[in-house]
Amino acid sequence: MQEVRLRSIHRARPRRLRRTAALRELVRETRLSKEQLIYPLFVRPGRGIRELIASMPGQFRLSLDQLPAEAEELLTLDVPAVLLFGLPEHKDERGSEAYAERGIVQEAVRLLKREAPELIVMTDVCLCAYTTHGHCGVVQDGQILNDQTLELLDEAAVSHAASGADVVAPSAMMDHQVQAIREALDEAGFPNTTIMSYAAKYASAFYGPFREAAESAPQFGDRASYQMDPANAREALREIELDVTEGADLVMVKPALAYLDVIAKARRRFEVPLAAYNVSGEYAMVKAAAERGWLDERRTVMEMLTAIRRAGADLLITYFAKDVARWLQEERRL
Ligand code: PBG
Repeated sequence: MQEVRLRSIHRARPRRLRRTAALRELVRETRLSKEQLIYPLFVRPGRGIRELIASMPGQFRLSLDQLPAEAEELLTLDVPAVLLFGLPEHKDERGSEAYAERGIVQEAVRLLKREAPELIVMTDVCLCAYTTHGHCGVVQDGQILNDQTLELLDEAAVSHAASGADVVAPSAMMDHQVQAIREALDEAGFPNTTIMSYAAKYASAFYGPFREAAESAPQFGDRASYQMDPANAREALREIELDVTEGADLVMVKPALAYLDVIAKARRRFEVPLAAYNVSGEYAMVKAAAERGWLDERRTVMEMLTAIRRAGADLLITYFAKDVARWLQEERRL
């Protein structure tokens, strides 16, 4: 009986492929590679500033003079891209430093493209870090106005492109922002500036540490009238479809870990490159647990990012980018 069963059904022994590290590597379905990493960077005015972000251990707010060294480190590690966030000198109702010619992000882009032209420079296009009320759009009577916001986002995107940004990444979740920005870029003579849209961006608690980092928390209410309801997956596909139709070159799902189903669905439905944003809260959770010795940081991060890739993301935006690049280099050497 035993023998029959083995011969007919249990010939398959999945463990055969797990016997040695070389075999496991041979049949691995999903790989992480440095080429897919995008590193978020926070820039602020001033000199000699390298300010530790309390809620994101290991991450800093940098002044411009710190950027060349940062860029060199990234290029040495083969991390190909940065995503810039700015903290302005002053905030106002309409977030005017978001689209100022000499704004902090605009200056950072110019400097990076001059000092490290090979580095892909992406910029977050939004108003929340630049407005006194901390919302991503123009506010009137407690409402976040959509179409009035588009003009300001257009200006921000064009100013980033004019500074030399390779990719602009609108994250305000205003309807039609991709179309508005595409038209504005084309009209301003930047038909080759790429748009990576934060297409499916959820109203998530996982952005908490970022809002401390960027000093961008809303001063009243929340972002639920423009960012997506975490309960909705079909709606994410609709959002992505609209953005692709409007001209997005790359699309993003954000956050990543709690939304792997959305990433998987988006991968199946759309052909454009798909990015996933492993956000600040996902970073902070791992850091906090690792500091206490409750998790092995390296193994946790590699597993997490591999899972995001396995779900279908092509590109990973992560605060762990430099660590991952280092770990991948070490694995090569083993
Ligand atoms: C700006 C923006 C946010 C993040 C990226 N772009 C914050 C927000 O929407 O409140 C979050 C990134 C992170 O948590 O790592 N709108």
